[in-house]
Amino acid sequence: MIEYIKSEIAALLNKQYPFITPIVEEPKDASLGDISIPIFELAKKRNVPFDECKSKVETLLRAHFKELITDIRLVRGFINIDVNKELVASHILMEITKLDNNYGTLSIGKDKTVVIDYSSPNIAKPFSVGHLRSTIIGHALGNLYEKCGYKVVRINHLGDWGTQFGKLIVAYQLWGDKNVIDQDPINELVKLYVKFNELEEHDPELTEKARHAFKELENGNEAYLKLWKWFKEESLKEFIRMYDRLGVYFDYYLGESFYTDKMDAVIKELEDKELLVFDDGAYVVLLDDLVPALIKKSDGTSLYITRDLAALFYRKKTYDFNKILYVIGNEQALHIAQLKAVVKKMGYDFYDAIEHINFGLVLQDGKKMSTRKGRIVRLEEVLDEACLLAKTYIENKNPNLPNKEEVAEKVGVSAIIFNDLKNHRVHNIEFDLEKMLQFEGETGPYLQYTSVRINSILKQVASIDINVVNSLFNKSHYFEVIRILDKFPLTLEKTVKENDPSILSKYLLSLATSFNKFYSLEKILVPDELIRNTNVLLSRCVKVVLDEGMRLLGMQVIDEM
Ligand code: ARG
Repeated sequence: MIEYIKSEIAALLNKQYPFITPIVEEPKDASLGDISIPIFELAKKRNVPFDECKSKVETLLRAHFKELITDIRLVRGFINIDVNKELVASHILMEITKLDNNYGTLSIGKDKTVVIDYSSPNIAKPFSVGHLRSTIIGHALGNLYEKCGYKVVRINHLGDWGTQFGKLIVAYQLWGDKNVIDQDPINELVKLYVKFNELEEHDPELTEKARHAFKELENGNEAYLKLWKWFKEESLKEFIRMYDRLGVYFDYYLGESFYTDKMDAVIKELEDKELLVFDDGAYVVLLDDLVPALIKKSDGTSLYITRDLAALFYRKKTYDFNKILYVIGNEQALHIAQLKAVVKKMGYDFYDAIEHINFGLVLQDGKKMSTRKGRIVRLEEVLDEACLLAKTYIENKNPNLPNKEEVAEKVGVSAIIFNDLKNHRVHNIEFDLEKMLQFEGETGPYLQYTSVRINSILKQVASIDINVVNSLFNKSHYFEVIRILDKFPLTLEKTVKENDPSILSKYLLSLATSFNKFYSLEKILVPDELIRNTNVLLSRCVKVVLDEGMRLLGMQVIDEM
């Protein structure tokens, strides 16, 4: 509502004074007013004093907004405005009550499709913490784009093709044991892969064998394909178990192997457009400001980028996207830049629709979290550990909670998700389970706990009554909460425009903090019926927005904890 008033003011000023760039902002300190308009530019261009400007603007605004605006005053070059808090607040609360979890739903993405390529782990390799970040960020962005009206296509571009399968096949032939692998597939396959890589360093023959095996695989060797399929199925089982725990899903699992028969067309097009050159034993596309993109090796086998090109054209044709997001770590910036550059060279303008949603590393005690006790971190163990710790916290706090296991799982998983999303994604994140599971501070449990607190209030009232005391909204601790509720739609829009879930995360923290301040100052369930109605209505609206925000981030909402 205030956001709406702000944009209306900007439009009015723009019409009346087309020669200035209207600025309509929110004062840093709420005690200065609800809306502030700097008038330096206007006064200067019109060559009139501030108070003359002010009275002109005031006449304009009063005529338009009538009783919506209560006070307009001049403070050192700024026109500060108070809105009618009673009207504005009741409007906002009614709107949230009416729309419920549809509050904040936008139509900026109407008739637009966005493809999101995320998670995309590699078969027969462990699901790394980097893949976890991609999974969490991609999933949240998917929810957020949907909320903004986009059609979202969620794709898991599994790493299920490439030279590593040549290595794995050779390793399996040399040292593999089916029974052992069946016991613990990913770990055993990773062991084989690691052993191969270690020995390969001193044994070029192994490299040659692996290269040959992958070539055979690309040529359709039945026995190799069968092995590959088995590796893939086993890995997928574990990945899907992880996705279920995280509440993550995809519209398509289309791994790199899906594009093996779609690469020739791309290569041919590159040839036809005379973009493919033979250079230093391989076929490459020369790029203006980047190192050349390696498209085909001398033995004819394909590369990661070749498969990505085929995937991109397939996606453009199949989904006709307006935007395609690649949620991959910072270290693949060159890869995406090359992908874009090749598409541009090919003469397609949709290179502009390609966006690299990059992110930083996961650190533990300041160091890259990739190995622990000399081993590779397994996501499952990380999740287990988080949930176990959550359970001990819950046991301390609420020993009589009936479904502790279930709640601990939701708290643990959501804590990891929120810890990932609360800072801008390009930053490295610190993975400190103890910290991220605190019930106070900038954590997932803090948000969940605030929602639970409101839930326990709501459980004590029979129904929501909209007969309220509007004058209460003039009190700053009431209005502060409402002002934040009002910003939810705009926050979502900004989050999606900037592909930055930390904007929503920080918003939710500020909402929870302002509600908890309100809660500490005001007894909610007071005897006076109308005051109680007001407090309950406000609390419920906070819960609606908080829960919807958490859902969008991919977190779980809890009833009791
Ligand atoms: N499997 C790749 C990796 O683990 C990530 C794939 C990302 N998506 C893509 N279209 N390249 O590094």
